Order: sequence, then C-alpha cells, then structure tokens
Amino acid sequence: MLGLIEPHGGKLVNRILEGKEREALLEKTKKLKKVHLNDREVSDLEMIAIGAFSPLEGFMKKDDYHNVMDNMKLSNGLPWTIPVTLSVTKDEAKNLKQGEEVSLVNKQGEILAVLHIEEKHSHDKEKEAVQVYGTKDTAHPGVAKVFEMGDMLLGGKVSVIHRVKQEDFKKYRLDPKETRHLFKEKGWKRVVGFQTRNPIHRAHEYIQKCALEVVDGLMIHPIVGETKGDDIPADVRMKCYEVLLENYYPKDRTALVVLPAAMRYAGPKEAIFHALIRKNYGCTHFIVGRDHAGVGNYYGSFDAHYIFDEFDPQEIGITPLFFDHTFYCKKCESMASYKSCPHDSSHHIALSGTKVREMLKAGQIPPVEFSRPEVARVLIEAMKG
Ligand code: ADX
Repeated sequence: MLGLIEPHGGKLVNRILEGKEREALLEKTKKLKKVHLNDREVSDLEMIAIGAFSPLEGFMKKDDYHNVMDNMKLSNGLPWTIPVTLSVTKDEAKNLKQGEEVSLVNKQGEILAVLHIEEKHSHDKEKEAVQVYGTKDTAHPGVAKVFEMGDMLLGGKVSVIHRVKQEDFKKYRLDPKETRHLFKEKGWKRVVGFQTRNPIHRAHEYIQKCALEVVDGLMIHPIVGETKGDDIPADVRMKCYEVLLENYYPKDRTALVVLPAAMRYAGPKEAIFHALIRKNYGCTHFIVGRDHAGVGNYYGSFDAHYIFDEFDPQEIGITPLFFDHTFYCKKCESMASYKSCPHDSSHHIALSGTKVREMLKAGQIPPVEFSRPEVARVLIEAMKG
C-alpha cells in the first residue's frame, strides 16, 4: 500500500512544548526580554510550530535567508522560495545578544513562544523585494510589507508555549498531522490541495473537479491569515465555501480546511512555497492555475507554472497540476480552457473582478456560468453589511 507523502525534508516539525518542558520554559519567560510580533510573524510562528513550514524549526538565519533569495534553496539544499523572518529595529537589536532567549509576544501582549537567538543579521530589504517579489515597487502589497519591517532580523529556533485558541472556523482548523490522519482515515492515497484567497467561482470549481477526476480526494485550503485590504474577508469566503460544498461537492471526497498563513502575493515564488506547505499537510498534488498568488500585473499569467521547471521534481516531491485560463464557452456549452476550447474569446463568458463587484454591489446575481447563485447571494448579503 502507498504510504502518505513525506513532509518536506522527511520529518514533520513540531515546536509546541508540552508538560514539564513547557512549564519550565514558561517560568523562565518571567525573566526574559520581550520581542513583539506583527500579524505576519504570529502566523509564521504558528506555521513553523505545527510543521506546516517543515523543515523550518525557527526564523531564518543569515545562510538560509540569503540562499533562499539567491538560489531558491535552504542552506541544506532543499527547495524553498520565501524568506520566513522575524524583524526588529536596529535599536531593539542593540539590546539583544546572540545566544540569548527572548519571549515572543503578540499584539494582545500574550507570550506565545521563546526564540533562541542564534543570529542577528541585517534585513536586506531591497534584495528581498527584487529577488522574491521581482520589484521594488511599494504599491506591491508584499513589497510594502518588507519595507515596513525592521532593519534587523533575529534567526533561531522557536519553542511555542501558548497557542492562542482561535474560535473562528474552529472545525476547519486542522494541523498537518491532523490532515494526514484524516486522509489516512478516508483512505485517500492521492490528495490534491487547492490554495485560494477568493470566493470560489466556476473557473475554480472546474479546475478542482478536473483534478478530482484523477485523484482520491480534494482539500480546499483557503488562506485565512493576513490578506490585503481589498480581498474578501475570510469569514465571508468561508460562508461561500460552505454553501458551495453543501450543494455541489461530493462529501466523501472533499475536505475544507483553513490555512493560517499570511498571503505574500509573490506569484511564482509563492506557488512553490504554497506547494511545499501542502506537501507538509499530506497532499500529493497541488493545483496551480492562472496567475497563482499574483497581484496587479507584476507576473506573467503562467510564471507560476514555469518556475517548477527550475527544480528537480523529486526535490519538490508534490506534483503540480497546471491549469490554463478557464472560463465558460457558449459554443462548447461547458467550462473549458484555452487548452481545450477551439472557439475564440467572443464565445467565452469572462467577467472582470471589477464588473463582478459592481454587479454584486447592485444586488445582481452574476451569470450562473460565472458563479453559483448560492455563492453570489452570500457575497451580496456581505456587501450590504
Ligand atoms: S490565489 O492568490 O490564491 O492564487 P485565487 O484564489 O483567485 O488566488 O486562485 C486560486 C487558484 O485558482 C490559483 O491556483 C489560481 O491560479 C487559480 N485560478 C483562479 N482563477 C482562474 C482561472 N480563471 N483560470 C485558471 N486558474 C484560475
């Protein structure tokens, strides 16, 4: 029998302390200095702790940070495309020593974890902007975030002592070890992961179902960490996913699970990152469609496909399933893509995001070929609010 896919690097990381070890560290935090985390860092801490970022056990040290930017690899040679860093200001860094332990604190002042500072190093913001995002333009939301962060980085392992209980989407919050268990229980050997930060429209549904035709199970895995201001809020999106799953998806072959990660909008680099994360959750396949994790016009529509050619597929481990631009074709009388439809675009139902938003704001349901009416109704209701 086929076993579950191995996590990236071979071992699922767990940096959550329990029992006596936790008690001892908790006691120690009374004397430690505090470093405050922003929302992105809190979410990265959670991703590290639960093994979603395996093999990372902490925030990146200099070697990993630069290797990721220069070669799309960690210093141990494993593919990795997005820096996972913790920043502080130069003044804060002056008061912290290499070898020291510090408490990591969220905005609410709760101590979440201890960072074992192994290295202090400079935050090379310009390099990060260019190498990871392909632009220094601060109109890019990912680049803007980089420039907002502190000038120094703290690298080292983390030990989590307090996981804040998230009350929202509770039943959909599964850690990698839990999704792995779920897939095993369901007998799914081949599972496709679907990343999304949007409500699911017919194009998304079509590519998910095409994928599901060739695997055992589908995990819809929306990001519920930090997204940019004009993206649809996670609670509204979750309602859309629920009505969709209720009405149009096979229950025994679909799982809805939330991903507590923050969006970077790094296009191709983030596509690799997203795939590796889903491998850690136990997926064997991962959908990469048009302009995956893109924003504005910073990336070519299929750059997120081409980047996979730069890696040895064995090293990536999870199999990407690439999809061309999909739409409803009136002549085909079905959903199709530029790969499968011979008709010109005058026969295609293609609506811009702006047009759809206008329709929904006016309380109009977009054509069923574009969105399921149940989903449109949730969005119209949310817009009234
Ligand atoms: S993303 O930032 O999470 O990639 P979104 O939620 O819109 O944005 O997309 C989820 C997945 O569906 C991505 O893999 C994306 O490439 C794909 N996708 C979205 N719309 C289309 C489309 N019309 N045709 C093909 N793929 C699409």
